[in-house]
Amino acid sequence: MSVSLTRYLVEQQRSKGHIPSELRLLLEVVARACKGISHAVNKGALGGILGSAGSANIQGEVQKKLDIIANDVLIEANEWGGHLAAMASEEMDSIHAVPNRYPQGEYLLLFDPLDGSSNIDVNVSIGTIFSVLKKADASTSVNEADFLQAGTQQVAAGYCVYGPQTTLVLTVGDGVAMFTLDREQGSFVLTQEDVQIPADTQEFAINMSNMRHWAAPVQRYVDECLQGKDGPRGKDFNMRWVASMVADVHRILTRGGIFLYPWDKREPGKAGKLRLMYEANPMSWLIEQAGGASSSGADRIMDIAPAQLHQRVSVILGSRNEVERVVRYHQEAAAAA
Ligand code: AHG
Ligand code: MN
Ligand code: MN
Repeated sequence: MSVSLTRYLVEQQRSKGHIPSELRLLLEVVARACKGISHAVNKGALGGILGSAGSANIQGEVQKKLDIIANDVLIEANEWGGHLAAMASEEMDSIHAVPNRYPQGEYLLLFDPLDGSSNIDVNVSIGTIFSVLKKADASTSVNEADFLQAGTQQVAAGYCVYGPQTTLVLTVGDGVAMFTLDREQGSFVLTQEDVQIPADTQEFAINMSNMRHWAAPVQRYVDECLQGKDGPRGKDFNMRWVASMVADVHRILTRGGIFLYPWDKREPGKAGKLRLMYEANPMSWLIEQAGGASSSGADRIMDIAPAQLHQRVSVILGSRNEVERVVRYHQEAAAAA
């Protein structure tokens, strides 16, 4: 018997008591928006969605047409439902409060509408990442400070990867479940439950072109992997780098591995490339729920108290023993200094 996303969420609400009905409906709407984005992605050049939009976001990155289309789809799908107080996105400078003409809910939705923008035009897997928080005080009007909660406060997190298949991956704190989009039925169908990442791996993902700019502990880790059987690790490693975090994390949830996007010395004041609130936090919760680990090198990512909506962070996540090793290399370097 196949289980739809709707049924899975009803069970999470009814028998498991993990989520209230408002959160269930919110997640259904997010999934519907992802379906819309998936259709746009599939049309490609035929839908006029490729290429640059000729604008830049607050992070100074050039926006692709699909960055803006995906952002609009998510906003339009979510603003009238009555479950949200506000949304925040990689593509918007500040928060988007639910307009006054709609009822205000108590949830906050954060998203990276289109992750892996450099892969859109070359027909390589891309995705959407989302995180749901709850507004601490329901009686006040919403502002940016309401969003500045640590990752441990998330009530739902997930991503949708638009690849050879469209797959929605979700956690509400009861493990990780994967749903494949059935295009004929128009619904997401549960295809894997209780996803578990092996603690060990021989596969790493990092943009090697930045090696000379990394901090010493990251250089040490990757250098040891590269030495393979003849080096201190005594085994050969394989490397994969899609350059879409969704696709790299999806591979790790499927067969293990370690993903790193570390701080580098070209811009020492910048913690890393990836953003804490709508990239690192949701991915960290999924990884931890699947038995993996996620750290900045210094801290567990989900424990970091955010100071800014678009704050960046160094990311090391995946198979537990490998992440712990990289963290240990950071500790050893700090102790020696
Ligand atoms: P986005 O497209 O949302 O800006 O995110 C891109 C991120 C992430 O998905 C990926 O891991 C990384 O940028 C790729 O960076 P490189 O260009 O260094 O490969
Ligand atoms: Mn991204
Ligand atoms: Mn993006």
